[in-house]
Amino acid sequence: MANLYETNKLLEEYLLLHYGTPEQVLPWSFGPSEALEFPARCATDLVAPMPGARALEIGCSVGRACFELSVFAEEVIGIDFSRSFIDQATRLSREGEAHFSVADEGELRNSYSYKLEERFHPERVSFEVGDATQLRPDLGSFDLVLACNLLCRVPDPQAVLHRLPELVRSGGRLILTSPYTWMEEYTPKRQWLGGFEREGEAIRSLDSLKRGLEDSFHLEKVVDMPFLIREHSRKFQWSVAQASTWVRC
Ligand SMILES: C[S@@+](CC[C@H](N)C(=O)[O-])C[C@H]1O[C@@H](n2cnc3c(N)ncnc32)[C@H](O)[C@@H]1O
Repeated sequence: MANLYETNKLLEEYLLLHYGTPEQVLPWSFGPSEALEFPARCATDLVAPMPGARALEIGCSVGRACFELSVFAEEVIGIDFSRSFIDQATRLSREGEAHFSVADEGELRNSYSYKLEERFHPERVSFEVGDATQLRPDLGSFDLVLACNLLCRVPDPQAVLHRLPELVRSGGRLILTSPYTWMEEYTPKRQWLGGFEREGEAIRSLDSLKRGLEDSFHLEKVVDMPFLIREHSRKFQWSVAQASTWVRC
C-alpha cells in the first residue's frame, strides 16, 4: 500500500490538526471542542514540564508537540517516517511560518497561515526521517519520549516497544497514546497488540503494553484523550486515544 502519510490530503489534514486555530478546525459554534489541539495537549497535559530535558518524539508528523516540548526542553528530536511531514516541519522551523489550504466543500478550499509562536525555541528542535521500528542506534537516551497515535500505524509495534527501555533514562518519562485503530493495511493481525480474542479471552492493547513494558517501566496513569481531525468543513473524525504515562525504573 502507498504511504498515505505522504499524500497532500493527509499533509493538509495534519497541518490543520497541529497548527489550525480552534475556529479553523471546528468552524461551528457546537461540536466536540474538548477534542481540539491534541498534539499540543500530548506534550503539555500528561507530564509536568521537565526543564533542561532531552526529549524525543517518535511519529512526530508535522511537529507541533516537538515545538511545545521546546518551551522547556534543551534538545528535542522529532522522527517520522513521512518525508513530506518532516520536510514541512523542517521548513516551518527554519522559516517560522507555514501556509496551507484545506478542503472546505468539494473543490473549494480554505487557505490558512500559521506563525511559529514566540514561546517556542525552534533552534532546540531537529526533525529527521526515520523508522520507529528500526531507529538509528546512536540516538542516545532521553528524559522524555513521546509516541502519540503511532503504535497502530506501524507494521511491528513490539519492535517500537523493545527499543523504549534503552531510549528512556532511569527516572525519565514515556508517553504513549493510541486510539488502537488496528487495521491490517498498517499492521498484520498477528502483530496487533489487542482488539481480538485469544482462546475466548478479549485481548486489550493496554494489557499488552503492560506486559511489554512492565520489566522496565512503572505505569503512572492512564487517561482518555479525544482528538478531532477535520476532513472538510462538514466532515470530521472524532476519536478517543488512550494515553498512558510510564516512569523508567
Ligand atoms: C496517526 S499519525 C499521528 C501523528 C502525530 N503523532 C499526531 O498525534 O498528530 C501517525 C504518524 O506516524 C508516522 N509513522 C507511521 N509509520 C511510522 C514508522 N514506521 N516510523 C515512524 N513514524 C511512522 C506517520 O507518518 C504519522 O505521522
